[in-house]
Amino acid sequence: MTQTVTAQAARLGGYDDASRLRQAQDTDWVLGFADPTARSVADLGCGIGSLLAAALDRLPDAVDALGLDREESRLAEARRKLAPYATRVRFRFVQADLRRPPQLADDAGSTAFDLVTLTAVLHWIHPDEEQLVRWISMRLRPGGAFLLTTHHPEHDEYGFGGSDDLARQALVRLGHAAEDVPRLLAAAGIIPIAVRTLSVDDTATLLDAYFDIDGVDERPALVRAASGEEYQRFHAATFGTYYSRLVGADRQEDYFRAIGEVAQHRLDTDGHITQMPVRLWRCRPRASRPAETARPAETARQPIGG
Ligand SMILES: C[S@@+](CC[C@H](N)C(=O)[O-])C[C@H]1O[C@@H](n2cnc3c(N)ncnc32)[C@H](O)[C@@H]1O
Repeated sequence: MTQTVTAQAARLGGYDDASRLRQAQDTDWVLGFADPTARSVADLGCGIGSLLAAALDRLPDAVDALGLDREESRLAEARRKLAPYATRVRFRFVQADLRRPPQLADDAGSTAFDLVTLTAVLHWIHPDEEQLVRWISMRLRPGGAFLLTTHHPEHDEYGFGGSDDLARQALVRLGHAAEDVPRLLAAAGIIPIAVRTLSVDDTATLLDAYFDIDGVDERPALVRAASGEEYQRFHAATFGTYYSRLVGADRQEDYFRAIGEVAQHRLDTDGHITQMPVRLWRCRPRASRPAETARPAETARQPIGG
């Protein structure tokens, strides 16, 4: 039986279906910039293991893989999805919060990766991004690559953009005044995702402190769905109760119904639900560039594949 959208949100379920609307669309793009000889790979915020599975399909020499996520239910799904690769790949699955990156079992010695991916995760690490970036820089092998994607929604004077704006419109349908929503979110400790998101320049500065950024690429990230109901499921799988907890336990279904209505309205009027640029950064270990020849991020970056 299909679970209610509220139950789905509570357990962040249904990500396999939901990710087709956005995350899965970036997989080939991201992995197209991985070195095909990588032997050791890590996906940080691995979710249900989709990116890791696609990486292993492309990397015939890969023998070690780390999947790390905060959500145990997603890791359980990743373990199942990746089981067929276990004949050639040694897996480690780690449940950890990347805001406080963990010691890995063999950290003192051999934990080093040829490829580290972090796709659509960095905003969740706010305000501890630097600690994570430093942690990654210490675990990337010479010649390795760190591939990162960041979404950059336009935002208003309250810092609302992308899904924040959609959540605000849903809350207005539930009777809240639009101008009250920023204060309500702040009172509930909910930081708008566009506020969590570093600007392109701040991301470049952060990465440039620890890596050589050897390429960037950018393209539109459009979220479309067949219906408002399909988007409702996407929202529940992707954001869980991040916004909906504002309305309390007894109004969860109302919140998700309103999200579906707002999404349907946007589909009818614009043909899509959200739209923002997504940027891909390819970073190399700092050691590959002598410090005295270091250039500022703006001049060092080259378009990937250009
Ligand atoms: C957009 S999904 C990416 C999934 C996967 N990389 C893929 O493309 O198939 C982001 C994942 O990051 C995880 N995540 C978010 N915040 C996290 C944190 N603080 N620590 C660890 N994982 C986190 C979420 O649970 C989610 O599974």
